[in-house]
Amino acid sequence: MRPYWRKIAWNLEDGHLRIAARFLVHQFSETYHEWRLGTDTDKWIAADKLGLGESDQNHYDATDFHGFQKVLKRLRPDPAAHVLFEPGCGMGRAVVVAAVFPFRRVIGVEFSPMLADIARQNVARARRHLRCKDVTIAQGDATTYAIPADVTHAYCYIRGELLAKVLANLKVSAKTVARPLTIIVKNPSCLEAVGGRLDWATHLWDSPSRYGGDYAIFEAAP
Ligand SMILES: C[S@@+](CC[C@H](N)C(=O)[O-])C[C@H]1O[C@@H](n2cnc3c(N)ncnc32)[C@H](O)[C@@H]1O
Repeated sequence: MRPYWRKIAWNLEDGHLRIAARFLVHQFSETYHEWRLGTDTDKWIAADKLGLGESDQNHYDATDFHGFQKVLKRLRPDPAAHVLFEPGCGMGRAVVVAAVFPFRRVIGVEFSPMLADIARQNVARARRHLRCKDVTIAQGDATTYAIPADVTHAYCYIRGELLAKVLANLKVSAKTVARPLTIIVKNPSCLEAVGGRLDWATHLWDSPSRYGGDYAIFEAAP
């Protein structure tokens, strides 16, 4: 059973009808976004099925549409300048949501060849809804991926060593080619992988998401 159905079932069992109803409404809204964009991303896949180690924390699970859209609306991407990079883009849900906004370019990198392939299919299916037409899904290891010098935004829904290495690479990239870099971290508790904070970037704001995990937004100034 997917985690949200489990949450609905638990709340129903405990008699928390209002909370169960709220989760249900949220889930309908998420399903609606998936249907509208024509994508197929609502899965949970264990890390060992993706060719990662059994203890790897980076299983596949998709970003919540509602929470990520809310963050991007507030960030107001500039179509002339802003390029979003997503390490561990899975089936491409967040890449598609980002490309609905007017980024100049969106780049996703995914380790699993199977998921990278699915992500490309999802981008193709959602094409008519995308304001950003320059979308790339690269298959490979995000820790060794050379971050392009024009990347201005990074979205991290990853954990553990992977998150620590990608953040270290982003820091080097922002210093090598001096530019402001906005970093969106989903589930900021994952920052424990880097001692609980990003000391080289300023914490700008948080976007709580009652049902799908919070977002923390940082900016590294040149
Ligand atoms: C939580 S999922 C992120 C899903 C995606 N952000 C979304 O919203 O749909 C984490 C993803 O990281 C991928 N991953 C794990 N290790 C990786 C690595 N070294 N390089 C690239 N991707 C990796 C996993 O295969 C998985 O798809």
